[in-house]
Amino acid sequence: MSTPVIQTICCIGAGYVGGPTMAVIADHCPGVQVTVVDLNQARIEAWNDPDLSKLPVYEPGLDAVVGRCRGRNLHFTTAVDAAIAAADMVFLSVNTPTKTRGIGAGEASDLRWIEASARQVAALAQGHTIVVEKSTLPVRTAEVIKTILGAAEGETPTGPKTFSVLSNPEFLAEGTAIGDLENPDRVLIGGEDPAAIEALASLYSQWVVPEKILRTNLWSSELSKLTANAFLAQRISSINSIAALCEATEANVAEVARAIGADSRIGTKFLKAGPGFGGSCFQKDILNLVYLCRHYGLEEVAAYWQGVVSLNAWQSHRISALVVRQLFGTVTGKRIAVLGFAFKADTNDTRESPTITICADLLEEGAQLAIYDPKVSAEQIAADLGQPAVVTMDSGEGQWQVASNPLAAATGADAVVVLTEWAEFGQLDWRALAAVMRQPAWLFDARTVCDAAAARAAGLKVWRVGEG
Ligand code: NAD
Ligand code: UGA
Repeated sequence: MSTPVIQTICCIGAGYVGGPTMAVIADHCPGVQVTVVDLNQARIEAWNDPDLSKLPVYEPGLDAVVGRCRGRNLHFTTAVDAAIAAADMVFLSVNTPTKTRGIGAGEASDLRWIEASARQVAALAQGHTIVVEKSTLPVRTAEVIKTILGAAEGETPTGPKTFSVLSNPEFLAEGTAIGDLENPDRVLIGGEDPAAIEALASLYSQWVVPEKILRTNLWSSELSKLTANAFLAQRISSINSIAALCEATEANVAEVARAIGADSRIGTKFLKAGPGFGGSCFQKDILNLVYLCRHYGLEEVAAYWQGVVSLNAWQSHRISALVVRQLFGTVTGKRIAVLGFAFKADTNDTRESPTITICADLLEEGAQLAIYDPKVSAEQIAADLGQPAVVTMDSGEGQWQVASNPLAAATGADAVVVLTEWAEFGQLDWRALAAVMRQPAWLFDARTVCDAAAARAAGLKVWRVGEG
């Protein structure tokens, strides 16, 4: 077995995963030419923008890595075909959202982009090409990819065309992507072809210690990714369920989390109660797991994981209902300041953000929302809420507008609702905010990020998630 030397990489998909992942590979492997391709022209233009603050993905530290490598051995282009033809290794990093129609709608992954890119690789690759599943995929998707690629194998005018397929799921979290990529807990490579596995491992070994590079079979690798996300999400639903019980019993969820987290078998991470988990993947991946379990006749296992998603939705709706209840049972025509729209701090991503659910509930109740987020654009909020912003909120029925800062959002509001844990919300001047709010005024802190004592001292009524 001789390990192929990788000189050229093509990554299909310049999204939240493809962009940062390839930038870090290019940074650590200066001898490898890395080309990230996408059909989305605007996205590629943003990746090529000379102003590094305009990259399409906001991640702390990403601008520095891209600044070092772009134009040297990191390239962003819409010329998909040429990049595939030149590549020794092709990463598939396209989107795999939940199907919205047809068989498995609402649960199964929509694999149309994976299939389309596999077909493109089958048609255009030359010589021996290692194809790496970087997207999160249902277990046994590699079988589909192998079948599509296998049909294209054989003699060609430029010589034999062959493929190896690997699974190399990505575990980065948004907001900490660069740190996660630089110093991963593990790199997982699943495959059947030892030479291909070692070729990929040799790239990672430029900066990851050998003990952290795990090798498994294809199916374990695919399933490990879904399982990791399911376990992480399960912890959040577990702590959110206990938060509700804390509120009913005068216990404090942060104290409970600290007490149970001190048990080394449980550990301290991912025990922060909040408005529910968001992000593009947790719900999608668990629903996919549920679908797979049903497919294999494992109804009880499917129901177990479905419960994690159901509890999460319940938690978001519970918070909007609680806001309405505390504001005397009606928010119609009332101004409410919403602080934070991203699904977590340090990202501009709003996909599946619990804020969307909570804002939609409040709009449905007739609230007038003044929304502030330091990184999310007004266009994105409008798209997520399915209704445009208004210039003046005067109809008395569910409307929203963007606020340029927390003070502007709070002006005239009956409540401030904090839904993303941006660090700046820990520094708010509650005396100044309380002075411009309509009394009696509330702070609903769904992230326990604010200075509750200062808010109370300023005269606000305060609710914090998980505090009885
Ligand atoms: P994304 O939507 O941000 O990016 C995917 C990109 O692929 C899009 O820009 C799209 O235009 C492009 N694309 C689709 N089909 C194409 C084709 N045939 N040719 C060229 N470009 C094409 O998605 P993402 O967040 O980067 O996620 C990608 C995958 O990684 C998903 O499977 C996801 O589950 C997984 N994942 C995501 C994260 C995360 O934090 N976002 C973390 C780990 C794993
Ligand atoms: C998550 C996983 O952490 C990554 O390992 C995985 O690669 C990624 O999904 C993916 O497959 O897409 P991400 O969604 O970016 O990463 O962010 P997380 O930090 O996991 O947060 C997810 C959601 O859970 C956020 O809404 C966050 O606010 C919430 N959360 C997280 C809590 O409410 N409490 C916690 O203790 C932790």
